[in-house]
Amino acid sequence: MQNYHNFYRKNDPVSPLGVDRLVEMLSLEGAEMELLLEEAGRCRSAVVGDGVYLRGLIEYSNICRKDCHYCGIRRSSSIACRYTLTEGEVLECARYAFEKNYGSIVIQGGENRSEDHISAIVRLVGKIKELTGGRLGITLSLGEQTGDTYRRWFEAGAHRYLLRIETSNERLYKSIHPCDPLHDFASRLRALEDLRNTGYQVGTGVMIGLPGQSMEDLARDLMYMHDLDIDMCGMGPYVESEGTPLAASRLPRLPLGKRYDLSLKMVASLRLLMPDINIAATTAMQAIYPEGRLHALRAGANVIMPNITPGKYRESYFLYDNKPLSFDSNIIEKNIRYGEWGDPLRFSRRSGNR
Ligand code: 5AD
Repeated sequence: MQNYHNFYRKNDPVSPLGVDRLVEMLSLEGAEMELLLEEAGRCRSAVVGDGVYLRGLIEYSNICRKDCHYCGIRRSSSIACRYTLTEGEVLECARYAFEKNYGSIVIQGGENRSEDHISAIVRLVGKIKELTGGRLGITLSLGEQTGDTYRRWFEAGAHRYLLRIETSNERLYKSIHPCDPLHDFASRLRALEDLRNTGYQVGTGVMIGLPGQSMEDLARDLMYMHDLDIDMCGMGPYVESEGTPLAASRLPRLPLGKRYDLSLKMVASLRLLMPDINIAATTAMQAIYPEGRLHALRAGANVIMPNITPGKYRESYFLYDNKPLSFDSNIIEKNIRYGEWGDPLRFSRRSGNR
């Protein structure tokens, strides 16, 4: 059987994967694609093991100051109800995750820079730490904030942060965001740098199959993540969200099935490129195929984020259409690592703990 570690190094036994090789890998189809996915699955087992780590996802608020062309909770979207969970509700979710032995949670929400919001998160993080004796890991995913805000949240006890670059191609980034200072590409890059400098384990990711996105763009996204030396990645297919400008645009686009396969190949290629990071099997994959997250795990992912948001709010947090509301963990039950934070091996190595 062809070994992709050898395959991608065949002309040069020492240099790492480059853009050209990655484009080739992302273009594989049929049986060759399956070989790539299997190789990445083996690489994952060998380097980070078969364990699947859980992060209970709390969709904290759908209030957002941004107006991204693709997103269902964009500022000018006419969703009926804008909500923010109360402190009591978030603590209830955290208690649930802790009792279920999830190991860690993610507090995700729209981008909001008000002092009320910032200090509410400081209080929440502190209370969750208190409630769980510091044992529940806390990841935040609350958009671009100032370095000072990132520091306040870190000092309160959050230790991981997720901020997707969405696409590393500046021209494409501009085409899917309004053209104003709020949606500036350079600011996003700076925010990612600030997060790293603050001491977080940093996660980023991209959308796959955006109108106007090429294979080379995606290969460069992988190289971008590699060069940024990320600890974690969450990426998935772009899925139209009705009523958004990008869904309405007439730009040519890949069929959903192709975006799905491409997402699996992106997960697999990233696993081979960065064998010791954490890679999430994202919900957007499941929005296309019910078995989506399972396939992503086989192709090299090792993290799942079950949604633990109180039911009554879920319908107000539709980033894209067909977003699954819940998830059945039975299929992967045997590999779930309950009660473990599941820190990325890469982060532990970089900080000299191993
Ligand atoms: N399709 C897929 N992913 C989306 N996101 C937002 N809108 C969409 C969409 N239409 C993703 C973005 C964002 C994350 C919270 O959700 O990548 O960073």
